[in-house]
Amino acid sequence: MDVFLWIIYPYITLTLLVVGLFFRYSTDPMGWTSKSSELLEKRQLRVASPLFHWGILAVFAGHVAGLLIPKEFYNAIGVGQEAYHFVAVAGGRITGIAALIGLFLLIVRRLSVKRVLLSTSTSDLVALLALVVTVGLGMGITGVYDWLFGAYHYRSTIGPWIRGILVLHPNIALMRGVPFIFKLHIVAAFTFFAISPWTRLVHIWTFPFGYLRRAPIQYRIRYGLRPVRRKQGLDPDPE
Ligand code: HEM
Repeated sequence: MDVFLWIIYPYITLTLLVVGLFFRYSTDPMGWTSKSSELLEKRQLRVASPLFHWGILAVFAGHVAGLLIPKEFYNAIGVGQEAYHFVAVAGGRITGIAALIGLFLLIVRRLSVKRVLLSTSTSDLVALLALVVTVGLGMGITGVYDWLFGAYHYRSTIGPWIRGILVLHPNIALMRGVPFIFKLHIVAAFTFFAISPWTRLVHIWTFPFGYLRRAPIQYRIRYGLRPVRRKQGLDPDPE
């Protein structure tokens, strides 16, 4: 079971992610979108969307800092375990709660605003469920596990294991003593990666950098207002 969960499953899901992204890009490039529903409802979205997106972006930054950067680096620059843990838990709670509240408000909006509900597909619901489970379990770690049982030193186990996965040299022994809720969160996260290409979550894998350099789009009436005014008899005919 350990071999399946901590070697085979991560590689199956990462393969599904990469193959899925290629397939989606080559078969449906115009469908590579977050399917914005701003035109359907704006007021609630204006609060919920930034709360969720800024929260989750900060959570991802925290994952990079805690899992991809080795703890030896922090030791070398004088950041000890206690200081790291304090910042990780305080930062994780603030950003995780922002993401969770934002997600809750987005779900309430989707279910309560009729036009948004009518435009909701099964894949949208699957994407929301994947987010609720993964973010919920993440908060179960930072908000509940840590509070009940104290610090778990994942930088000595999950951190090196995930880096091993990325450099194709995984060590399952590192995952043996990891608490159950962390394991659940990781399995949920890999499932999240595998399904993302098939839902609106596909947009998380690209960033529209072209936006920053492209010329602004201007909308204007093609021939000015004169023909319209003339038709309405407001402007005299030039002849
Ligand atoms: C394989 C990938 C992942 C691993 C190994 C992982 C591992 C972890 C760990 C160890 C924590 C505890 C951090 C702490 O308490 O200091 C955590 C927290 C959390 N995770 Fe993940 N995670 C992964 C992917 C994800 C994904 C894809 C999401 C969201 C879509 C997510 C959302 C969260 C949230 C919301 C928290 C709580 C807030 C925080 O501490 O940052 N995680 N994760």
